[in-house]
Amino acid sequence: MKLLVIIASTRPGRIGKPIGDWFADRASQHGGFEVEVADLAEIALPLHDEPAHPMTGKYEHQHTKDWSARVDAADAVVMVTPEYNYAFNAALKNAIDYLNREWRYKPVGFVSYGGVSGGMRAVQMLKQVVTAVRMVPVGDTVLIPMARTMLGDGGFEPTDVVAQSADVMLDELVKLAEPLAGVRAAS
Ligand SMILES: Cc1cc2nc3c(=O)[nH]c(=O)nc-3n(C[C@H](O)[C@H](O)[C@H](O)COP(=O)(O)O)c2cc1C
Repeated sequence: MKLLVIIASTRPGRIGKPIGDWFADRASQHGGFEVEVADLAEIALPLHDEPAHPMTGKYEHQHTKDWSARVDAADAVVMVTPEYNYAFNAALKNAIDYLNREWRYKPVGFVSYGGVSGGMRAVQMLKQVVTAVRMVPVGDTVLIPMARTMLGDGGFEPTDVVAQSADVMLDELVKLAEPLAGVRAAS
């Protein structure tokens, strides 16, 4: 089973990168998945520029075909998202909008961070959006309040509560990944 960890923030100096790297490492140690990281800053998708609706799967641009192949290969997804103005960031919405069938019937978990709210509002909004492309969000999320205070010389250094919540969410993703692979095969 393959897990795609999407690092959503694209800002220079973003804390999303060390948080995403920590989570990918934790997911590898968890052992339930083969883990791949998709960093939206590196992938650098332009604002959605395909003429056909993504549901058709007809893509003109190589950047879309490449993104499609990466998402298609995944059995589960984790979105590592900041909270910007009480929402998730625009680069992540753009990356979701590019595709449709590639997301369908895949379990998705969220690692969110920000100030006191830990990105809770971003996740609530994301849960609504991912269901439009038929993803299945897991209930347990990794919420990181005051994330900047957990950055150390060695990168992101989470509290025990945050680290344990990652394992709980990964367990949930493992539970859903195989049954949903069956749903994809049947549809
Ligand atoms: C445009 C913008 C809007 C923000 N809005 C919020 C917000 O609504 N809630 C919050 O907790 N933090 C907010 N912040 C603070 C971010 O949580 C903080 O800057 C964090 O480092 C952003 O993640 P990043 O560094 O990975 O991009 C905002 C930051 C930016 C740049």
